[in-house]
Amino acid sequence: MKEKIKTYTEEVEKFKADSLEQLEAFRIKYLSKKGIITALFTDFKNVAAEERKEMGQLINSLKQAVQEKIVLLKDSIDQKINSTGSSLDLTLPGESEIGTRHPLSIVRNEIIDIFSRIGFSVSEGPEIEDDFHNFTALNFVKDHPARDMQDTFFIEKDPDILLRTHTSSVQVRVMQSTQPPIRTISPGRVFRNEAISARAHCIFHQVEGLYIDTDVSFADLKHTLFYFAKELFGEDTRTRFRPSYFPFTEPSAEMDISCNICGGKGCNICKYTGWVEILGCGMVDPNVLENCNIDSQKHTGFAFGMGIERVTMLKYQINDLRLYFENDIRFLKQFEATN
Ligand code: PHE
Repeated sequence: MKEKIKTYTEEVEKFKADSLEQLEAFRIKYLSKKGIITALFTDFKNVAAEERKEMGQLINSLKQAVQEKIVLLKDSIDQKINSTGSSLDLTLPGESEIGTRHPLSIVRNEIIDIFSRIGFSVSEGPEIEDDFHNFTALNFVKDHPARDMQDTFFIEKDPDILLRTHTSSVQVRVMQSTQPPIRTISPGRVFRNEAISARAHCIFHQVEGLYIDTDVSFADLKHTLFYFAKELFGEDTRTRFRPSYFPFTEPSAEMDISCNICGGKGCNICKYTGWVEILGCGMVDPNVLENCNIDSQKHTGFAFGMGIERVTMLKYQINDLRLYFENDIRFLKQFEATN
């Protein structure tokens, strides 16, 4: 037994470990329930009485040597890991979070889906526009306030290059390149020089729509938008149209829907009127058709435009527009189930 303990003691003295795994194997070999030290104490019962004292001391000091060795090696391995960073195991599976679709994308896709079911295509255009496509073709007179520096981000002056203030510019491009019938919607990002607050932002998103054919009437406009409101906000939704003004439509209107929060009874979202405004619309002004080489004697059409932020606010009862752009994971995660 004495010999055995001597061999183990030498082995412990010589032992070196490069990794925590090797060190753990060493600990198990000596100190676990089925390890060497336990085995030695079991054998100890058979040791003759006169040798007991010496053997007991030898086993105990072996045990102590093993414990000291472990502490020592662990320190040096830890130090090595900290200085080289080699504890990074690149083969471990990542802790990935599955992303969620942004609420604005969810609603945009839903709007596209609703209009595509009745034959509308999707068209896109540049965010950096010239004056013609954003203003002139759309019948804005030269000194219209919307052209003012306060509203529009200009990039260059004379000739004017700017960030589009609405996606009506895309519809001008569609009319220039396609003869009627035209049925298209244009979703996209738009820019206006507004102070950022809970209710306004300098960047937001629109979906605008355009329908041009022979004999398109205001009744077609009303029914199309009534269908849209019911699809997006539910079967019980009612609509109403109020006269309005846009340079590119005549007549023009704004459409309200019955408040989807209180069902029209009155609440603080609808300011106790029972109605909330969701879009602008009207019959395309003949001047606009002519500006885009479409014969206004033969064709009529309607157009509409809405802010996706506003529609999303109403649909999900979001009360601060800035939430859309802050990318706070706690806000975005709420839309997980909607994906
Ligand atoms: N272009 C308008 C806006 O940005 C919306 C609109 C589009 C109104 C089409 C009427 C017809 O506010």
